[in-house]
Amino acid sequence: AASANNTPVPDEKLINVAHRGASGHAPEHTMVAYELGREMKADYIEVDLQMTKDGVLIAMHDTTVNRTTNGAGAVSNMTLAEIKQLDAGSWFNSRYPEKANEDYIGLQVPTLEEIFEEYGRSTRYYIETKSPVLYPGMEEELLRLIDEYNLTGANARSSKVIIQSFYPDSLKHIHEMNDHIPLVQLLNQPKLGVDAVGELEKIKEYAIGVGPSFARINEDYVQQVRAEGLQIHPYTINTREQMELALTWGVNGVFTNFPDLFNEVIKDF
Ligand code: G3P
Ligand code: CA
Repeated sequence: AASANNTPVPDEKLINVAHRGASGHAPEHTMVAYELGREMKADYIEVDLQMTKDGVLIAMHDTTVNRTTNGAGAVSNMTLAEIKQLDAGSWFNSRYPEKANEDYIGLQVPTLEEIFEEYGRSTRYYIETKSPVLYPGMEEELLRLIDEYNLTGANARSSKVIIQSFYPDSLKHIHEMNDHIPLVQLLNQPKLGVDAVGELEKIKEYAIGVGPSFARINEDYVQQVRAEGLQIHPYTINTREQMELALTWGVNGVFTNFPDLFNEVIKDF
C-alpha cells in the first residue's frame, strides 16, 4: 500500500500512456502499435503530430520520414499521397530483429483523422503538437478534427483528448481557442528546487499538468508539482524499477513504450 505522501487523490486513476503506441513491441505510430496499446489497456494512446505539405496532420515523431520509413525527406515538403507510399514498419524489423514480424512490412503512416475514424470515443488520445513553429495552422486543424469527432468533454475530466507540447505558445494558442481541452506542458529541462515554483505558476495559467523528462526530476520535484495542484506525467519510463520509483514519488501517470509492464507494476504496487 502507498504511504500518505504518495497516495494519489482518491478519485484519480494512475494513467498509463502508450508512448507512440505500444512502441516497445511494434513500430511506433502505426495502427498496429496503437491497437496493441489498446489491447494492453493503456488509458491513452500517444500521438505525435507532423503536418504534410498539403496540410494533413499525420502521426510521426520526427520532422523527417528518414528514421521510421523507407523514404527520405522533410514531412513539410511531402504530400500525403507521397507519405502514404512509404513503408513505416520494415525499419522496426531491421532495428529489432528479435521483435520482427512480417505483418509490419508495408504498414502505412496514419493520419490523425484515420486514427480518430478507427477508434472514435472508444479510447483516449494524448496528442503532441510536435513542431508547431514549422507548421502554422496545425493547432486549428487539430481542434477542427477533435471537434468533428466529438472528442471534447464538458470539462477536463470528460475529454477524450489531452494535448501536450514542448512549446508554451502552441498550448496557449489552443487554450485561447478552447479552454475545455486539458493541456500538458512538456519540459525537457524542468526547473528544480527554488526555481520550480515560478515555472509551475506560469504553466498553471493554461495547463492542467506537466510532462517532464523522468531522467531530470526527483521526488522533491514531484511533490512540488502536486502541491501546485498540477498533474505530473513523466516520460519515458520503460523499466519496472523506474516505474516503481516514479510511483513511489507520487506521479499521476507515465508515458511508456510498455503499457503492459506498467499495468503489471501498478497491480503489484
Ligand atoms: O510526449 C512525451 C514524450 O513523448 C516527449 O518526448 O521525443 O518521445 O516526443 P518524445
Ligand atoms: Ca511525444
